[in-house]
Amino acid sequence: MSSVQPEVLQATAVDANLKSYEEARRTFDWSEVEKAFSWHTTGKVNMAYEAIDRHAEAGLADKIALYYSDANRREAVTFGQMKANSNKFGNVLRKLKVAKGDRVFIFMPRTPELYAALLGTIKIGAIVGPLFEAFMEQAVRDRLEDSEAVAIVTTPALLPRVPVRDLPHLRHVVVVGDSAEVGAEHVDFYKEMEQASEELAIEWMDREDGLILHYTSGSTGKPKGVCHVHNAMIQHYYTGKIVLDLKQDDIYWCTADPGWVTGTSYGIFAPWLNGVANVVRGGRFKPEDWYGTIVDNKVTVWYSAPTSFRMLMSAGDDLVKQFDLSSLRHVLSVGEPLNPEVIRWGLKVYNHRIHDTWWMTETGGQLICNYPSMDIRPGSMGKPIPGTEAAILDDSGNVLPPNRMGNLAIKTPWPSMMRKIWNNPAKYEEYFRMNGWYVSGDSAYMDADGYFWFQGRVDDVINTSGERVGPFEVESKLVEHPAVAEAGVIGKPDPLRGEIIKAFISLRAGFEPSDELKADIAKFVKLGLAAHAAPREIEFKDKLPKTRSGKIMRRVLKAWELGLPTGDLSTIED
Ligand code: WT7
Repeated sequence: MSSVQPEVLQATAVDANLKSYEEARRTFDWSEVEKAFSWHTTGKVNMAYEAIDRHAEAGLADKIALYYSDANRREAVTFGQMKANSNKFGNVLRKLKVAKGDRVFIFMPRTPELYAALLGTIKIGAIVGPLFEAFMEQAVRDRLEDSEAVAIVTTPALLPRVPVRDLPHLRHVVVVGDSAEVGAEHVDFYKEMEQASEELAIEWMDREDGLILHYTSGSTGKPKGVCHVHNAMIQHYYTGKIVLDLKQDDIYWCTADPGWVTGTSYGIFAPWLNGVANVVRGGRFKPEDWYGTIVDNKVTVWYSAPTSFRMLMSAGDDLVKQFDLSSLRHVLSVGEPLNPEVIRWGLKVYNHRIHDTWWMTETGGQLICNYPSMDIRPGSMGKPIPGTEAAILDDSGNVLPPNRMGNLAIKTPWPSMMRKIWNNPAKYEEYFRMNGWYVSGDSAYMDADGYFWFQGRVDDVINTSGERVGPFEVESKLVEHPAVAEAGVIGKPDPLRGEIIKAFISLRAGFEPSDELKADIAKFVKLGLAAHAAPREIEFKDKLPKTRSGKIMRRVLKAWELGLPTGDLSTIED
């Protein structure tokens, strides 16, 4: 009997910004949220203005906007300084004749310069494309080529991965580094910034004008450029209030890199639109450094990912006891399924319920969430934010009743919904094929009380450590290796990373399977694409299962891996 009752963790927060989820669902109206912004009266929009300048001009110029630290550097930047620095970078770009609507990429590790450059790009109305620093040449080329970017901001260390000669649209390479390391053909970031004015005439935008491009993977084809517009700020601001529960005195830390959508929507826009101090920790994950970041900055609201929580969990309970984490007030997670076990552990060692949130690169902002004032059912992603509607659809687009598994879908539109896939209207339309619904590609069910439960991906997209990897991209890189004839790539369940990338490979004539060859192939992907896209496991096969049209059947590879029946093989080659 008790086993069918869901586990419930009672709501604890009495002073949350969202007092009653049920009431908000009944009364909520997006047009009320818009009144928080200056454009409510002027009609002129700029995300960077609303996030930074608006606060600087309203008496918060000396408030800390950014607490930055890494192993060698510690710095605090006020809203006033961030306004000045981003203005300067806007002027640097204008001097280079970069204009409204142009694409400017930012390819560098997290530092205060990255944030000034990103905001400055937005201030002149250009569309910013943040790139994760682990990307190798091919990944960089694909994105700059597809978007026809005119400029890139990078560092001397990453510069060799920017294939300048192959990119005819790329006019400027801005290098953030010591002048001695900046070549004559490049723009010296620090030198130009020193000369640039702190005054900038902001480019006032339409709400529907382009803001940011995040490339993300699907199960087929090259990565897709998901384009968001300035209007998204409505959702960033509102979810910052009711999901992150941000209040004026909070010290907020989102652990994601701006190369991924979490690192921009919730690592830049949501906290700053709410005028809240934002913590950025540079460098790689290390449990001691992470706890130290919470202690040093007295972090109150912490947004991270299941993989990180699982790694912290495996670092042990004793480590937690060495740090005073009592500043924490609200903890959240996103990116992959949050295991009930991790929630129970979080309650034990942090004395906090970890609040799961669900959304995607394409949705631009949080959609299905757990709120401080709502009971948590561990294993559930929560309920749709007020002002949005989620449902489970069958494959014909009919809404299914509770407890039936199907396609997780969101009623369109919502403020932060993507507005196009760059250069690919057909791909964009595919998401909206079911009358008035956005189809997520996730499968889920809704219980009788309206909680949503994630079940898996409908397609072959891999989620490893919260990072989305398209099998096709990895396969394409694998077959460039001289020894590889054919390759099929799947996600293999993994206790720490959620999934790991596993490649099944058939070799060309003349090559023999060996551990050295496996290591060499993995390294080839790591150096050619990105470290997180490299297969952690490789298995050699004489032949791979293919359809008669020659498509590798990943479904069969997955069944082999899991020891499951292979299902319908009627389309297999022989
Ligand atoms: C996919 C989107 C935007 C957040 C970072 C990932 C999976 C995301 C959850 C969750 C289970 C989740 C889904 C989704 N996912 N959040 N709370 N529980 N799965 O963004 O790279 O666009 O990936 O991540 O499969 O479709 P993304």
